[in-house]
Amino acid sequence: MSFPFLQVPEDEAVWVQSADIHRQIVALFQAVGVPAAHAHITADALTFASLHGVDTHGIGNVVGYCKAIEDGVYTIPQQLEIVSESATTALLDCGNGLGFVAAHRAMEMSIEKARAYGVGMVTIRNGHHVGMAGYYPMMAAEQDMLGFAMTNAVPVAHPLNGRKARLGTNPIAFAAPAGQERPFLLDMATTTVANGKINLAQRLGVPIPPGWAVTADGEAITEPPASRSDAWTMTPLGNTHEGGGHKGYGLAVMVDILCGVLSGGGFGAQLQAGENMSWTMAVDIAHFRPVAEFKAQMDEMIRTLHETPAAPGTNGVQVAGDPEFETAAIRRERGIPIHPPQYEAIVATALRLGVEKYI
Ligand SMILES: NC(=O)c1ccc[n+]([C@@H]2O[C@H](COP(=O)([O-])OP(=O)(O)OC[C@H]3O[C@@H](n4cnc5c(N)ncnc54)[C@H](O)[C@@H]3O)[C@@H](O)[C@H]2O)c1
Repeated sequence: MSFPFLQVPEDEAVWVQSADIHRQIVALFQAVGVPAAHAHITADALTFASLHGVDTHGIGNVVGYCKAIEDGVYTIPQQLEIVSESATTALLDCGNGLGFVAAHRAMEMSIEKARAYGVGMVTIRNGHHVGMAGYYPMMAAEQDMLGFAMTNAVPVAHPLNGRKARLGTNPIAFAAPAGQERPFLLDMATTTVANGKINLAQRLGVPIPPGWAVTADGEAITEPPASRSDAWTMTPLGNTHEGGGHKGYGLAVMVDILCGVLSGGGFGAQLQAGENMSWTMAVDIAHFRPVAEFKAQMDEMIRTLHETPAAPGTNGVQVAGDPEFETAAIRRERGIPIHPPQYEAIVATALRLGVEKYI
């Protein structure tokens, strides 16, 4: 069993063009009071995720965001506030608003600082969900910089050898530009999988592989649970000690430190449901060496990896980002498949809010 089993079956999906998805998201957010500029920033990130095959963090989540805004979980319109700042660093307060807006601004600030001084780092407190973490480092890669982003979340995963959730899925994302080749984009939860993959398996009615989640007694779960409870936890990346679970666990704590402790916004176990603290960094390659030389060497490295002889029974070697960029190339032509229950929920929300249906 491999990852492709966790796709919405193509013949069941509703196919939609990315430009229509973007319009729909902007319209929905504006209908719940989000200013146009913030709605566009958020729609850019969500559409990027949908286009790149990260369906767990794309348009499907817009219904939940709208509901959270209507329920007053978010402060809309939000005010971003720089709490402290130096030439290369900043602490940004998200104003209890959309995490996308703060993470986007944090990466813009990181890039501005990196352009001037080589490195820029911003940590964010008082924030919410930022979606696909890899979207933000790509902003830096497009400016010939290295980009990093991380975000923490309420606990769903146990620390190695623990029986209770203490850590979020805490993703780490890193992007580096190449020349002829596609950028390197590593975007990974520090749990064995992102939470959304278990939700997707549940919606599709398919089992999950042993190792993604366990009962409180440590027994592997293969039937994806319908809801969060104390009866089960997700595993740190690597799952067991022998499998390297101590390293996934350590990386998750690192994310909590950069996002939650450095910002003061709180580590996972201190967060309220729906809260996320985040962190971005940009490094300007030109401060180290000529960009063209860096990119040529990136190309050489990526080609060397791609040319590795394939192990039997595999499709050969990829580098991080390949699956997402390949999916985006296909989806630009064919459109984006949306799981019918999610599609219906989006359309119902549009109707309820009196918003035009674009998808
Ligand atoms: N905002 C949040 O709170 C939050 C929390 C967790 C995860 N997420 C997001 O969920 C998404 C999915 O996370 P995930 O950990 O399930 O991702 P994943 O396991 O699908 O992919 C992780 C990384 O591995 C790379 N990859 C995949 N197959 C590969 C191969 N054969 N060879 C080399 N590299 C390969 C991908 O390009 C990606 O960079 C990410 O976008 C992440 O940012 C967000």
